[in-house]
Amino acid sequence: MWLLVLAFFVLLFYYYGTKNHDYWKKRGVKYDEPIIFFGSNLSHIIKKHSLSERFYELHNQYPDEKYVGYFEATNPAILVRDPELIRAILVTDFRYFHRRGLSPHKQDIELLMRNLFTVDGDAWKLLRQRMTPAFSSAKLKAMFPLIVERTAKLSVIAASFAEKGEEVDVRNLIARYTTDFIGACGFGIDSKTLDDEENEFRSLGKRIFMITTRDILVQLLKRTFPNIDFFKHLNIFAPEIERKTLSLVQQIMSQRDYKPSGRNDFIDMMLELRQKGKMVGESVDKRNPDGTPKIVELELDDQLIAAQVFVFFAAGFETSSSSSSSLLHLLAYHPDEQEKVQKEIDEVMAKYDGKLCYDAVKDMKYLEMAFKESMRVMPPVGFLVRKTAGNYTFPGTNLTLEDRTGVVISTQALYDDEKYFEDPKSFKPMRFHPDNKFRRDLFLPFGDGPRACIGERLGIMQALAGVAALLHEFSVAPSKSSKRYPDIDPTSTIIQNVLGGLPLLLVKRKK
Ligand code: HEM
Ligand SMILES: *[C@@H]1O[C@H](CO)[C@@H](O)[C@H](O)[C@H]1NC(C)=O
Ligand SMILES: *[C@@H]1O[C@H](CO)[C@@H](O)[C@H](O)[C@H]1NC(C)=O
Ligand SMILES: *[C@@H]1O[C@H](CO)[C@@H](O)[C@H](O)[C@H]1NC(C)=O
Repeated sequence: MWLLVLAFFVLLFYYYGTKNHDYWKKRGVKYDEPIIFFGSNLSHIIKKHSLSERFYELHNQYPDEKYVGYFEATNPAILVRDPELIRAILVTDFRYFHRRGLSPHKQDIELLMRNLFTVDGDAWKLLRQRMTPAFSSAKLKAMFPLIVERTAKLSVIAASFAEKGEEVDVRNLIARYTTDFIGACGFGIDSKTLDDEENEFRSLGKRIFMITTRDILVQLLKRTFPNIDFFKHLNIFAPEIERKTLSLVQQIMSQRDYKPSGRNDFIDMMLELRQKGKMVGESVDKRNPDGTPKIVELELDDQLIAAQVFVFFAAGFETSSSSSSSLLHLLAYHPDEQEKVQKEIDEVMAKYDGKLCYDAVKDMKYLEMAFKESMRVMPPVGFLVRKTAGNYTFPGTNLTLEDRTGVVISTQALYDDEKYFEDPKSFKPMRFHPDNKFRRDLFLPFGDGPRACIGERLGIMQALAGVAALLHEFSVAPSKSSKRYPDIDPTSTIIQNVLGGLPLLLVKRKK
């Protein structure tokens, strides 16, 4: 009897695990052979390849296809290779691709998943509309003194390593700067508190980036069985992260009496946006009988603000520290390029009385070119994701994607393709000179279209400020444990992490 029950469950599991496996075959799309439950290719799950590397390989395994099918757990998804179709997805046919589709549920989405990066539908539309002005250049300029304050601290820490002549993991060094920057600009924490290593904010930061077995299990269950109620109530982010973020944000807002304090940090920005009242706008998917979009509204309450402050941390932290440390790594191995960058930094700083400021960093054009090139050679985020909203037929093909099909673009593979970037393996900042021609539309470190990175300018300016502060005083060089081609941590999901960090030598410059 028990054996029969067991056999029944095995069959049920098998059915659930494989029921979609001929999906792409039926549609005449080449695809990666799936494995029960794990979908295409176990290698990410058994930790041999990062997600980004997996998409890179899938892209390169089918050089003649416009798109390739694969499976996310049991769900069919598609990787798009063709530049024209990529443009359609991100920009021209955006109305069919406004979802990122990272939340497994449509309703009752947990607090922290209601951030701009992971939220979809009308809540995304209303938040994006309301938050866009908060990232204007004027706001960024007002925030800049907080960034400069943190670069000074960065120089002090760097000096202590340079004196001892010890190698330093620049990934770690920059991560400390980025955490401080997010503490100061994101959470509105003052610098005295930030200098205390044991503060509440640091412990929250550590917990956010710690992925526990619980987290992995919850993700797998929620994605494989999106319709089972019990799993709906499991949070993707551990409950203590949610509790701590909300209470930290509420504490700071009430200290300010829920009014902007003049510090010009992210909490001030959110308090300003909250004062404008309810968010109102046209729906992305609900329509009136006459076909016009319905008008929808949403309150920007404490919870929604906490979720946005959280994304500032999650979306801004690793991207910024990974991209600036990769730039330092590449400059250490390209001393001629480093010299050019330093010459420009020195010249610009001299123009501004040796002080770093917003306008000074904006003048560092070669540094910005080198930064872009480093994001091409070592992309911090190697792929973009969307999910269809409605049935969509790719122009010039007979392939119709059903509503809620996952779509992915391997930017890492595009950057490494000599059709689009000449001599792709080489680090050549000059390729980004405004006079040089290349497929700019395929260089997408911040994505593209209405769902592109909202923090692009902030991310660039913060990264350049940190690197400029360092290279003004120090040079970087390979050290005994540096690796020219660092290995990628196979557990990396969205952001590419390097194994063993990026150890380099910091040498005080002679002036
Ligand atoms: C060098 C630094 C950064 C890089 C490389 C980066 C990269 C990206 C990428 C690739 C996306 C997805 C775009 C797409 O799907 O088309 C994204 C989205 C996003 N990023 Fe960044 N980012 C950086 C810094 C920041 C910072 C500092 C913030 C601070 C708020 C931020 C906030 C966001 C948000 C909220 C989204 C989601 C936007 C939406 O869905 O509407 N990012 N970022
Ligand atoms: C899985 O991916 C690796 C490289 O990413 C590839 O060599 C291998 O053939 C793939 N296996 C299957 C079953 O698709
Ligand atoms: C998509 O097409 C299917 C039939 O292929 C249909 O049942 C479904 O209602 C359509 N969905 C939308 C959102 O139009
Ligand atoms: C689409 O299907 C039609 C009829 O089956 C066929 O004639 C046409 O060549 C197909 N187009 C493409 C781009 O595959």
